[in-house]
Amino acid sequence: MKGVILAGGLGTRLYPLTKITNKHLLPIFKKPMIYYPLETLVDAGIKDIMIVTGGNHAGDFLRLLGNGHEFGLKGINYAYQEKEGGIAQALGLAEYFADGEKVVVILGDNIIEKSIKNEVKAFAGQTDGARVLIKDVSNPERFGVVEFDGDRIKNIAEKPKDPKTNFVVTGIYMYDKDIFAIIKGLKPSGRGELEITDVNNDYIRRGKLSYSRLDGWWTDAGTFGSLLRANNLIAQRDGGSGDDES
Ligand code: DAU
Repeated sequence: MKGVILAGGLGTRLYPLTKITNKHLLPIFKKPMIYYPLETLVDAGIKDIMIVTGGNHAGDFLRLLGNGHEFGLKGINYAYQEKEGGIAQALGLAEYFADGEKVVVILGDNIIEKSIKNEVKAFAGQTDGARVLIKDVSNPERFGVVEFDGDRIKNIAEKPKDPKTNFVVTGIYMYDKDIFAIIKGLKPSGRGELEITDVNNDYIRRGKLSYSRLDGWWTDAGTFGSLLRANNLIAQRDGGSGDDES
C-alpha cells in the first residue's frame, strides 16, 4: 500500500501567512505542519510516500524533508501541481506512483491525535473499493457532510448550508486502483475544482464505500481558528519541554 500527502493549493484563507510560504510549512507547535501527516502515514506502516505540492515554495519541501531519513524512510517521491485544480486533481498526479496499488491519502493540513493503524489494516483486508474516516464535529458546514441510510453512507454533501448530520469526512481517504479512472471522469465543481467528494460519491453509487469512525481528536489547520486549535491540541498532546517557560 502506498501513501500520498496532498500539500498543494494556495492557502488563501491564511493570507498573509501564506504569501511567502506554503501553508503546510507553517509551524504547528514545534514542527512544520507537513511533519504531522507524514508521521501519521509512517506510524501506520506506510513507507512508500509521495508528496504532491505546488506554487512558488515547492522547493522548500525538498530542503525541509530531503529523502525522509528523519522519518525512517529510504526516500520520498514528489510531484508538482501546476494549478490549484482541487484535491482530486492533485491526487491524479500520483497515478504513475501508485502503479496499480491501493493508496492511503492524507491532506497536508489534517492533524490527528492518534494512530490510523487499525483503519489501514481494515482497508488492507478489503478486496476493493474505498474507505473514508469520519468524525462528528460542531461545525459540519465547513466540510464534506455524511448522510446515512441506516449504517450505510448514502451521500456526502460538500459544505452544505444546511448539514443533515454532524458527521464529516476527514481528509484521510483510502482507495483501490479505480481511483484514477474516476478522477479522469470528473467535471470541475462550481468553484472550478475537481472535488474529492465527487470521487467518494462515485464509490457510494457503486456500493463500494466503507467507513470507520476516527478515534481521538481531528482538526484541519486551513483557517486562523483551526490553525490555532491545531497548535493548542498538539501542544497538549506532545507537551512542552520546559524551554518555553518564562
Ligand atoms: O479537511 C477535510 C475536508 O477537506 C473535507 O471534509 C472536505 O470534504 C474536502 O473538500 C476538504 O475541504 P477543504 O475546503 O478544507 O479543502 P482545502 O481546499 O482547504 O484543501 C485541503 C488540502 O488539500 C490542502 O491543505 C492541500 C490539498 N490541496 C487542495 C487544493 C484545492 C491540494 O493539494 N491541491 C489543491 O488544488
